Amino acid sequence: MNTVTTAAELKSIVNNFRSQGKIIGFVPTMGALHQGHISLVKRAKSECNVVISSIFVNPTQFNDKKDLEKYPRTYNKDAEMLQNVTCDILFYPSEKEIYPEPDTRVFDFGNLGNVMEGSQRPGHFNGVAQVVSRLFNIVQPHKAYFGEKDFQQLAIIKQLVKQLSITVQIIPCPTLREADGLAMSSRNVRLSPEERKAAPLIAQTLFKVKELYATKTIKELSTFAKQQIGTQKLMELEYFEIVNATTLQPADTKGAAGENVACIALRMGSTRLIDNIIL
Ligand code: PAF
Repeated sequence: MNTVTTAAELKSIVNNFRSQGKIIGFVPTMGALHQGHISLVKRAKSECNVVISSIFVNPTQFNDKKDLEKYPRTYNKDAEMLQNVTCDILFYPSEKEIYPEPDTRVFDFGNLGNVMEGSQRPGHFNGVAQVVSRLFNIVQPHKAYFGEKDFQQLAIIKQLVKQLSITVQIIPCPTLREADGLAMSSRNVRLSPEERKAAPLIAQTLFKVKELYATKTIKELSTFAKQQIGTQKLMELEYFEIVNATTLQPADTKGAAGENVACIALRMGSTRLIDNIIL
């Protein structure tokens, strides 16, 4: 695996591959890799000739400075995991390399950006849009892979590439879960043993909501989910919403399979976790 730290070098490598007709796959990450990330790299490997993954903890998407400071940084382990899965290129830029000057762009994703994570974490998606558009500009991938765990982020990125007319195919990839159902996340390592033990209730609640979906109303399902989470004193619910999977607005009808998605965000101590299930 070739590790590249500058945008100029990466652009020149990519131009060379592109001129040979190679398909470039891209997996952007903030490091602290787990098997969920690795599954994205594997998928990219199966569909592309060259796979590039980036590790960059993007400061502009953290609305909470403490969260940025506490974000796990495990570069050596990450690089080894990428090497083991035969990722071709690791892009590991400095902050100056990505933001030679502060990015003052303000994006407007309309209602997609106002709900759920958008309302809980002001500025978060603007920062995601800033970094992802910059990374796409440097990496120039044909295909980019994102996990469905960050369902709203995926919707925003699809909208971003439309707005900026970026010719990249966005490939959504299923959430990977631990054996007890907990969605894999870089933040899971921050849970105390007691919190980690309680955390599978999130996925269990979502699975149950899916099971009950055919027979209960949306309101009943929301009440049920909120009650379930309310039984765990270590959890502080931020939101549980059943939304349309395309518009992310609250669902008023059930529609066909896959039309809606149940999304949840909560805090356990100082750790914030999100998850979702497509209904
Ligand atoms: O999902 C993430 O890890 C980040 O939001 C991303 C897409 C790498 C942008 O920093």
